[in-house]
Parts: sequence; C-alpha cells; structure tokens
Amino acid sequence: MRPGARSEDDPASELFLLSWQPIENTASGIPANGRPREPAAMKVGLLTGGGDCPGMNAVIRAVVQCVVNEGGTCLGILEGWRGLVQDMTRPLDLGDTDGIIAAGGTILGSSRTNPYKNPDTELSRLRANFRERELDALIVIGGDDTLGVGLRLYNDFGLPIVGIPKTIDNDMAATEFSFGFDTAVNVVTEAVDRLRTTAESHRRVIVVETMGRHSGWIACYSGMAVGADFILVPEVPIDLPRLVDVLQRRRAAGKKYGIVVVSEGARFPDQEALIVDSTPDPFGHFRLGGIGNAVADAIIKQTRMETRCIVLGHLQRGGSPTAFDRILATRLGLAAGRLALQKRFGSMVTLSRGEIIETKMNENVVTTKTLDLNYYNEAAAFFR
Ligand code: F6P
Repeated sequence: MRPGARSEDDPASELFLLSWQPIENTASGIPANGRPREPAAMKVGLLTGGGDCPGMNAVIRAVVQCVVNEGGTCLGILEGWRGLVQDMTRPLDLGDTDGIIAAGGTILGSSRTNPYKNPDTELSRLRANFRERELDALIVIGGDDTLGVGLRLYNDFGLPIVGIPKTIDNDMAATEFSFGFDTAVNVVTEAVDRLRTTAESHRRVIVVETMGRHSGWIACYSGMAVGADFILVPEVPIDLPRLVDVLQRRRAAGKKYGIVVVSEGARFPDQEALIVDSTPDPFGHFRLGGIGNAVADAIIKQTRMETRCIVLGHLQRGGSPTAFDRILATRLGLAAGRLALQKRFGSMVTLSRGEIIETKMNENVVTTKTLDLNYYNEAAAFFR
C-alpha cells in the first residue's frame, strides 16, 4: 500500500478507497421499494440541488455513463428536491448527456427546496413520488443543505441515497476540494487581471467582492493567484489600519494602483457579516453582501485614494468548468454510480489526498470547512 493510503478494512476511519472491482449485487444495501433488483436492471434517479456550480453537468454525464454501462437506467429529477415533491422528471440516456461536460449550470435545474419544512405535505409527497417512480437508488448532487436532506431521508425512511458534494465555496468538511471551486477561482483571477489594467490607468484602488459564504477559500485562493495587495476573509476580522497602511506605503513606494480581494462573509471586528436580504432561504441562510462597498468607503475616507468596488457575484458560478473541475466531477460521478449499483447507500464520494473515496454520510455532510489559515498566512506574507 502506498504511504498515506487507507486500508479498506479500517472500520475506524469509515473511509474506503474505491476500487474498480466488478460490480456485484451486494446483499448489504437497503432493498429499494422492498424488491432488490440486479445491478443490471437498476433504475437510478439523480438530482442536483442548491446553488448551481460548474461541473454539475460533468458529474451527471459520468453517473449516466456508469449506470448505463452496467445495463441500468437513469431518471433525472428536475430542480433539486422540488422535482421529487412535484414529480418533475426526465429520462436520461447517453444521448442526453453527450457533450454536456463543457457546459456550466445543470441540465436538471436546481433549487433550494427543503421538503422537511413542510413534513405533512412536501415530505409525504416526496416519499410517495419516490415509491411511484420505482427508483432503486437516488444519487444526490448537492452542498450541505441538499445532502443534509438526503442524509435525513436515508436515516428516517431508509431511502437509498448516495451523495456527491458540490459547491464553489469549497466549504464542505467531508471533501478536500469540491468541483466548482477551481472554476470560481479562475473566474475571479481573470476578472482581477482585467481590473488591474484599468486600476493602473486611473491610479485607483479596486476592491473585488467574491462569494464564498462564511468561508474565505475563494477570496484567499484568487487573491493569492492575482497577487492582491490585501485579502479579507471571514476567518480573520478586518484589520483596517493594517490594510490602509499597506495601501499607503505601496502608493508612496510608487505603485500606482491597489487590489483588495474581500470575501462576502468578511466582517469588521465585533460586527456580523453584512446581509442584503433579511429573509432567510428555506435552510435558514441569509444572502451575504455589501462588505466590498463598506471596505471601499473606509479606504476612501482614510486614504483619499480613488476607490471602486466590484461585486463579481454569480459570474463566479457561471460558464464552462475548468479542466480540473471536469475531471474531478467525472471521477466523483463514476464512483457514485458504482456505489449506487453496489447498493452502498447512506454513503458519499469525496476527494481525499487526490483519491476518490467512499465515506459514510453523517454529520460530516453538514459540517463546514473554514479556510485553512496556513494559506492565509502565506498570502499575508505579501501584505507589507
Ligand atoms: O453557496 C454558493 C453560493 O454561491 C454562495 O457563495 C453565495 O453566498 C450563495 O450561493 C448565493 O446564493 P444565491 O444563488 O441564492 O443568490
């Protein structure tokens, strides 16, 4: 075994390297609808939920290829959990997924529907539709909220769920990297490379607000990639005097412009993250935003430097996935398809030290991963 690789029989870790053995009809899985089928005849549903992200189509393509290769069939559930509540589906065959690897978004659509908000109506309809559709397995592609619902459905009712994590925020503790993140970082990097030229022409400071919710992965990675003068992340309260000092000293040294990358969840000391909408989504999250402008205003006030703020927003979620995200999504999709055919339900596929592994779905599904501060400290070596 290679150093660092995990043993497949290590029950303590609950993590297993996925091996490409022939698919057997393991008896260990929960029989779908009480009638276990051979893998060759399995009907596998799949849905994409939560905020969309580049790579979702690549993962759908890979799941379908895996299931069809083994003689099974796939049914696409439209618009996340809403599709199961309202019985909105479409058949998915190889022809439907050919070429979609390069496309952003999701051909299945997405939503932030939480069926547990209305157990008597939505949840019971969801369960009835699941039975009606005779699904043997359901592959759920989502972030913490969508997979959290999947975990509850598995625990509460034994629904045969396999999870695949996705998010541009890279904030899911279960996986080292999630697909969508690399694309978002590249979008920000390209945007800032463009902004740099206009900033320099006008001797301006440009403050770029990125997404990421309460974790600073996107801001820190993209800030490092563009050589930002300063990066602000939720994990480290904003040190305005230091930010102002860095900008002023660089200007005095002859640098004509400044680039500050700020994560939407960054906050001033003793303040909460700023929100743009006081109504939470069905999972209780508030939309973050406004910190970029607040930082720009503070810079203007304290330095008199001409400053502009750009909020990149949903640009970071749109467009074609990078090669990295396409490959990660493809590997995860193939692995999840195999787990479903092997009836290893209540599990998810994740990335760990470059390997695709199987891990049990438990509270890890909803555990948030904040920015590893080693990265921030490396970036901060340049804040001088
Ligand atoms: O979780 C992904 C994400 O893009 C966050 O970075 C952002 O805060 C949020 O979704 C935006 O959500 P919506 O698409 O509902 O505006």
